[in-house]
Amino acid sequence: MKFVIATHNPGKVVEFKRLLEPMGIEAVMADISEPEETGTSFEENAYIKAAAACRETGLPAVADDSGLCVDYLNGGPGIYSARFAQPGKRRLTVLEKLQGVPKEQRGAHFVSAVCCVFPNGDRIDAVGKCFGTIAFESRGENGFGYDSIFEQDGVTFGELPSAEKDARSHRGHAFAAFEEKLRGYLATHPADQKNTGD
Ligand code: IMP
Repeated sequence: MKFVIATHNPGKVVEFKRLLEPMGIEAVMADISEPEETGTSFEENAYIKAAAACRETGLPAVADDSGLCVDYLNGGPGIYSARFAQPGKRRLTVLEKLQGVPKEQRGAHFVSAVCCVFPNGDRIDAVGKCFGTIAFESRGENGFGYDSIFEQDGVTFGELPSAEKDARSHRGHAFAAFEEKLRGYLATHPADQKNTGD
């Protein structure tokens, strides 16, 4: 099965491939446009991205809309995580906004809403979350985005090896739920398994 990955985020591309390929999915990139994320939820934005990529390529398309929700910021930046503050300044901006805030008020979670759209219009949705706190400083070089300021058990996601991040992360949980739903879908739609995109 060939699925197009509906993202332009290089950090996500790496994780999508890592999570989709063990499912027997050939995850391919395509020269697709970047639709405006006009939804008001992670789920709506994931659908907008997957539907656009499916329409443009004629292949099943998988997207995720994801973000960091910080309790102290009333759930922000949330769906605006990619557009929050200047590029390169996003982690620092979160740390600055939480300056002086004690550990017990630094709760946060990541959300990943995965959406897969098939050329026949069918769709599969799955959501994953993971909970932690905002660290007092950025630590670790692994991962992308806010990984180096999101901490669980004293370790940031930026300090974790990739397999460990996948086992704990919002995206890892969302793709595990997606895999289960995909298996159920393919069992009742065997023709879709033959899709090679050729
Ligand atoms: P979008 O889903 O493309 O709108 O962007 C999500 C944004 O949330 C990314 O650009 C990152 O800044 C952040 N984000 C989503 N998932 C992760 C993650 O696994 N680690 C760190 N940051 C993430």
